Amino acid sequence: MNIALLGFGTIGSGVYELINLNKGKFSGNFTDMESRKASPVITKVLERDTTKDLGDTVGKIVTHPSEILEDESIGLVIALMGGMDFEYEMIKECLKAGKHVVTANKAVISEYFEELLTLAEENGVVLRYEASVGGGIPIIGSLKEEMKINRVTEIKGILNGTTNFILSKMTEEGADFGETLALAQSIGFAEADPTADVEGYDVSRKLSILSSMAYESIIRDEDVYKRGITDVRAADIEMIGSMGYVVKYLGHSILEHKNVYTTVEPVLFKEASIMSNVNSEFNIISITGDIIGELQFYGKGAGKDATANAVVGDVLYILNIVKEQNYPKPLRLNRKLNKIGTDIF
Ligand code: HSE
Repeated sequence: MNIALLGFGTIGSGVYELINLNKGKFSGNFTDMESRKASPVITKVLERDTTKDLGDTVGKIVTHPSEILEDESIGLVIALMGGMDFEYEMIKECLKAGKHVVTANKAVISEYFEELLTLAEENGVVLRYEASVGGGIPIIGSLKEEMKINRVTEIKGILNGTTNFILSKMTEEGADFGETLALAQSIGFAEADPTADVEGYDVSRKLSILSSMAYESIIRDEDVYKRGITDVRAADIEMIGSMGYVVKYLGHSILEHKNVYTTVEPVLFKEASIMSNVNSEFNIISITGDIIGELQFYGKGAGKDATANAVVGDVLYILNIVKEQNYPKPLRLNRKLNKIGTDIF
């Protein structure tokens, strides 16, 4: 199976390295030569900025979408360009062309959730988006598979590493929002334009994806009440701290009497609570189901390795499906069983 990668930025290069470094592990899943054909090979990388460091992808770089869409040898596309319109169009066209898609793009998934899933189903392919929420935390797969028989009633979490880093620093050092944001930007934690993180859009998109999946009803980004952290002052944090509380930036959705309420806002937690002790770039996600009760997932919510790990997990998931569909069990095993049966009866 040939794979195309869209975008060779931080996460794209991380995924490329992870797949290449672990080739042995991928093919180790497959026991015969036919099945080995399903092990992944990235044959094309769509990257328009050819001035950046492209590592050993140079011979694989393409700059026009048709070189991927019209290539029938490509069965899976990993979409990691970021942004909205172009990536949305590419994901849509890839699904229509019968190619499986893996993406980390929370903006596209939250906005076009229903349309893209329907398109994948209609075209008999798989769309996976584990890395779109919680970075390396396997929350999408857990909701979709492990918690599937539960009726989920509540989701809450610290879902944004940048703002958790900023609030943690403000709490530890008594620093102001502005100077802490500047520090976060200088060490690469916060984007040059931090609006999506500090105004709640990033958390809102993640929460709308989780909520749509959990409550089986489309919850849009615009349905989420959002309040940013830009007006949280060092003096407030200090005063709240003296009362035994910590400020955290919480995404919360709850199902009550067939209504879903979704909010993203700074919330106070008691100092000793689990939420209060999730610091720096880490995320925590709590999901409550009627059978399992409350489950909590903790880990790195952002960053190259954590996010690439989630993307590659999705790639492996799809490869295993392809393997099951294309490669039935060897006949040899059946013949052996028949022989034993014949002998006994
Ligand atoms: N800006 C996001 C964060 C990246 O800080 O969590 C991961 O979605």
